[in-house]
Amino acid sequence: MRIAITGGAGYIGSHTVDALMTRGDEVVVVDDLSTGDVARIGTAELIDLDLASDRAGATLGRQLRDRRVDAVIHFAALKRVDESIESPGLYYHVNLASTLAVIDAMRDAAVPSLVLSSSAAVYGEVDGMVDESHPTRPLNPYGATKLACETLVDAVARSGALRAASLRYFNVAGAGRPELGDRTIVNLIAIVIDQLSRGETPLVFGDDYETPDGSCVRDYVHVADVASAHVAVLDWLETTTGHRPLNIGTGRGTSVLEVIDVISAAMGSDIKPAIRSRRVGDPANVVSRVDAIARLTGWSATYDLDATVRSSIEAYRWWSASSPVR
Ligand SMILES: NC(=O)c1ccc[n+]([C@@H]2O[C@H](COP(=O)([O-])OP(=O)(O)OC[C@H]3O[C@@H](n4cnc5c(N)ncnc54)[C@H](O)[C@@H]3O)[C@@H](O)[C@H]2O)c1
Repeated sequence: MRIAITGGAGYIGSHTVDALMTRGDEVVVVDDLSTGDVARIGTAELIDLDLASDRAGATLGRQLRDRRVDAVIHFAALKRVDESIESPGLYYHVNLASTLAVIDAMRDAAVPSLVLSSSAAVYGEVDGMVDESHPTRPLNPYGATKLACETLVDAVARSGALRAASLRYFNVAGAGRPELGDRTIVNLIAIVIDQLSRGETPLVFGDDYETPDGSCVRDYVHVADVASAHVAVLDWLETTTGHRPLNIGTGRGTSVLEVIDVISAAMGSDIKPAIRSRRVGDPANVVSRVDAIARLTGWSATYDLDATVRSSIEAYRWWSASSPVR
């Protein structure tokens, strides 16, 4: 297949570029390199394009047609919850305009299949195992833009113009190779690795939740598993019509204290975490149900937390050594 990957120079996108090229697909990356790095895409071709810019849809449509692309995976987006609260207009503009441009381009070039990057942030208030029928009430502008993109794709798929899946990732971490790792310090695993590397004490917000050890429980999925889910879903889309949201997680919960223990053991650190009071809005337990994707595509996550943590540490060390001033 010939696949266009928007945001392919980013963290999850580059792992998916790698997975598709490894199995022999042809890949073209569409990215403005705003947070991405061209060094992550290897020998894949790059179309340097800001998808939220004027006329991006027409420009991309010509490129897709010229290259006879069969499918698009749309990762390109802004993804920071804190930034989306400060600049909601920017988030609505970039995330929606980019998705509209992709849909316009696919229509122009008659490309039939779309995989959209969505997020567990579309669910909002959750406590426990979540399947795709859970109400979608995002708690921040980032999650709201992801839901709006899903809604748009759903309407276009219902019109018969394309077949699509929106993949709702839970907590993505790890790296397939150190140079492909995430370079932001935003999720728990990255924050704890950064703190222990600096000799700082990791903080646990709340140890009195209704969970086995009292700390919050989340679902951490290795980015290489997230990439292979895209490959499985692309193949499945060939056999179906319409639009389907699908959770991407492990189906297993891990507590904050467990995550810190695994990281401390892997880093040989004996710094003990400090307990602080609960943060407003942190649910006790958020774990993905993954029955739907397993049933439809046969995909399930294969990496355990130890592998996810160890590859995150390697990526952190690689990036710290390559870019000591951050
Ligand atoms: N990383 C996570 O934990 C996570 C969780 C849930 C959902 N997601 C979603 O997955 C997708 C990829 O996330 P990531 O972690 O790889 O982020 P990332 O920032 O590493 O990658 C995003 C890529 O998109 C490109 N990009 C951004 N805006 C663009 C634009 N207007 N035009 C062209 N290219 C543009 C960036 O240069 C970058 O290469 C996003 O849609 C994000 O919302 C990520």
